[in-house]
Amino acid sequence: MHTTADIDKIIILDFGSQYTQLIAKKIRSIGVCAHIYPFYVDLETINKYNPKGIVLSGGPASVYDEDSYLLSPFLLELKIPILAICYGMQLIVNYLGGEITLADKKEFGSTKLSVLNSSPLLEGLNINEFNVWMSHSDHVTKLSDDFIIIASTGNCPYAMVENKSRNIFGLQFHPEVEHSEHGITILYNFVTNICKCSKSWSFENIIDNTIVELKDKIGSEKVILALSGGVDSSVAAMLLNKTIGKQLTCIFIDNGLLRLKEAENVKKAFEHFDLNIIYLDRSELFLDALKGIFDPEEKRKVIGHTFIEVFTQEAKKLSEVHWLAQGTIYSDIIESGKGSHAKTIKSHHNVGGLPKDIDFKIIEPLSDLFKNEVREIGLKLGLPNSMLYRHPFPGPGLGIRVLGEVRQEYCDIVRQADNIFTQELINHGLYYDLNQAFVVFIPEKSVGVIGDNRRFNWIVSLRAVKTNDFMTASWAGLPYDFLNRVSTRIINEVPQISRVLYDISNKPPATIEWE
Ligand code: XMP
Repeated sequence: MHTTADIDKIIILDFGSQYTQLIAKKIRSIGVCAHIYPFYVDLETINKYNPKGIVLSGGPASVYDEDSYLLSPFLLELKIPILAICYGMQLIVNYLGGEITLADKKEFGSTKLSVLNSSPLLEGLNINEFNVWMSHSDHVTKLSDDFIIIASTGNCPYAMVENKSRNIFGLQFHPEVEHSEHGITILYNFVTNICKCSKSWSFENIIDNTIVELKDKIGSEKVILALSGGVDSSVAAMLLNKTIGKQLTCIFIDNGLLRLKEAENVKKAFEHFDLNIIYLDRSELFLDALKGIFDPEEKRKVIGHTFIEVFTQEAKKLSEVHWLAQGTIYSDIIESGKGSHAKTIKSHHNVGGLPKDIDFKIIEPLSDLFKNEVREIGLKLGLPNSMLYRHPFPGPGLGIRVLGEVRQEYCDIVRQADNIFTQELINHGLYYDLNQAFVVFIPEKSVGVIGDNRRFNWIVSLRAVKTNDFMTASWAGLPYDFLNRVSTRIINEVPQISRVLYDISNKPPATIEWE
């Protein structure tokens, strides 16, 4: 049995491109292990990682910027193949004596690429022209003698270049982006034919390797994990359960701010797997702590602190626990700017600020995996689709979906409305087209009429968004008759609600949550 340390790997050096994670995901989808490191990574780290190929990502800089991201010359001494994309290509061509011209305008979008010479990057592609995705300002205007042109576009004579003696390939376009036709073939040819990587990044191997690594680390020691029922903590729990069985204790805390029947559903999802789970209902404690608090950030803090208090008390009751497991995933680590194997505590896991007298070592079984990989592994380990593909739910839960002061009554109302909205989205086949959808409670009353009676009751708003990265989001154009059905059901079935709104704000400037 081998571990990740023994398998063939590609290193991706990040020069700040918005697509860097996509490069890693695409290479992994081919079946080859790939990790991202910052562009300034040192030689020792690279040697330890032992890659069979290097990819230089693109980036927003210009080689002429005073503080431009530089190429570490030792990369060229490693004698392993390099695929340099966009800014990465400009850097390497410039370093080896070519010329880069500053552009006054950006070339962005799909462009026809004409193939002029054969290249191992194009193996299996018997075509002379295809469309590729450009997103650059500067471009190469002269190559040093040891480079040849493979392909050009109308605006960009050196769109694809090769340096045979050094085994360096340069692409001005982005093969990792869906809009680049045959981009995946180019990446495939680079990692399998040129770098000669074997395809060992399969979900079965990932599970086996992770189990070997976890066993080695944990031995016979005990581990605790805060199980929220979300994708990451659930898959982490399943992996650890498979590895160390009853050495793992999961703690599920009902903070009174969860979705309808959440605790029940989590119990149901895990009941076949014989996990050690302690279920705690601490709703009253959380709701008491939130009394009189209106400010969203203050509410987040109170919920976080109360969580830590409850979790710590429970952990202290268990004997001899050495490890705290967290569901941190690879994107969290990359986005924290700490590079590939740095360990960070995910702040919104709410266990970041554990008191000093609880001295756990941290274990993160998913820290090498992207979200799509975590989901696939969850499926392989037997978790249901409905759990793995659910919309994200924020740590503070309904605490930030009940505007202003959080009260039990408000939570109960919004829980019911939210459940109706979600059910209807699922029934109409709309749920999985959205990235997040929920109901917000507005603590204001509005007049309504039911039969001959006036009623003066609460207002809720539906929120449904589409987004790729949750940094920007668009409100979803749900069909009017669907919205009509949801609002009718909510007003009929939740008598405390007299009015339903639909939020049509994009992010930015609005945020996805209302608080
Ligand atoms: P915003 O509202 O900032 O939300 O546009 C972006 C994403 O982050 C989630 N979110 C949170 N998640 N703790 C969390 O665990 C929080 O305090 C928090 N605030 C926002 C939100 O649900 C959305 O997916």
